[in-house]
Amino acid sequence: KNIALLAGGFTGEYEVSVNSAKNIADNLPADKYTVYTIFINRDKWFHEAAGELVDVDKNDFTITLNGGKIKFDFAFITVHGTPGEDGKLQGYFDMLGIPYNTCDATTSAITMNKAYTKALVNGIHGLHTAHSMRLFEKDMHDVAIIAATLKFPLFIKPNNGGSSVGMSKVYNVAGLPDALKKAFHEDEQILVEEFIKGREFSIGIARLHGKITVLPATEIISSKDFFDYEAKYTPGVTKEVTPADLSPAQNEQIANIVTEIYTRLNCKGMVRIDFILLEGSNDFYFIEVNTTPGQSANSLIPQQVRAAGMNVGEFYSALIEGAL
Ligand code: DAL
Ligand code: MG
Repeated sequence: KNIALLAGGFTGEYEVSVNSAKNIADNLPADKYTVYTIFINRDKWFHEAAGELVDVDKNDFTITLNGGKIKFDFAFITVHGTPGEDGKLQGYFDMLGIPYNTCDATTSAITMNKAYTKALVNGIHGLHTAHSMRLFEKDMHDVAIIAATLKFPLFIKPNNGGSSVGMSKVYNVAGLPDALKKAFHEDEQILVEEFIKGREFSIGIARLHGKITVLPATEIISSKDFFDYEAKYTPGVTKEVTPADLSPAQNEQIANIVTEIYTRLNCKGMVRIDFILLEGSNDFYFIEVNTTPGQSANSLIPQQVRAAGMNVGEFYSALIEGAL
């Protein structure tokens, strides 16, 4: 089968996506799939063959190599952020009738929006969400109102973002203006959210061979103030423990929560959901759902797949076969 592996995108996560694609291509079984990496840029979609850039025909999503037209049986989307994680490519492939690995357009669009997602997961048994405010760039912002509404420290983040790009942790009202500016640089809407002190976990979940499978949790122990872009992608800055040191009861609680989120949001393929376990409690606080989670060799999902005793290539194959 011909697989188009889509990488790149329009955000600060471009390089992260290219690394994800490289690892997926390295692991997909070569006897089953012929993989063509397609790079998505704002001005150009292309495949690179023997040093030449080959344009994608966006009318039918084909490429022409050596005079022959190549059609794709499947699109493996690993573009983080827009347009691969927010429903845009999903809508395009729906129109062309090409199956893909991720959630559908609607779920991708909703989960890309942290505020909408929080509203939808509200009320799931055993799950909590931090108090937050959503701000729009077009409005005036009185930092005194933010300070009076929410308790410091606060996280300021683009509402539609990933890899902590544009994100700040703020300890007092004086820190707010710069943090708002930085986040608005990435997005026209931002989320101001109370910091939840505790341990951070991330858990992958996927439908494999027709069955929802929860992967082992990872605990993220950052030596930085929070798990920012540098902590995420600089080796050694963060310790990631997979499987996480959680009690059997906590593991069961978190598995139930991720299954409920996956089902309630009508997720498809693999997603990864992030949480904070509030210090001194059994309260898991929801952070967000990632519908095109990072796939570089050391990323969390590949770690969790290996910890579950599965082979990463077989895991990706199961995602393809399940969506065909
Ligand atoms: N946004 C990054 C790629 C992740 O969630 O893994
Ligand atoms: Mg994320």
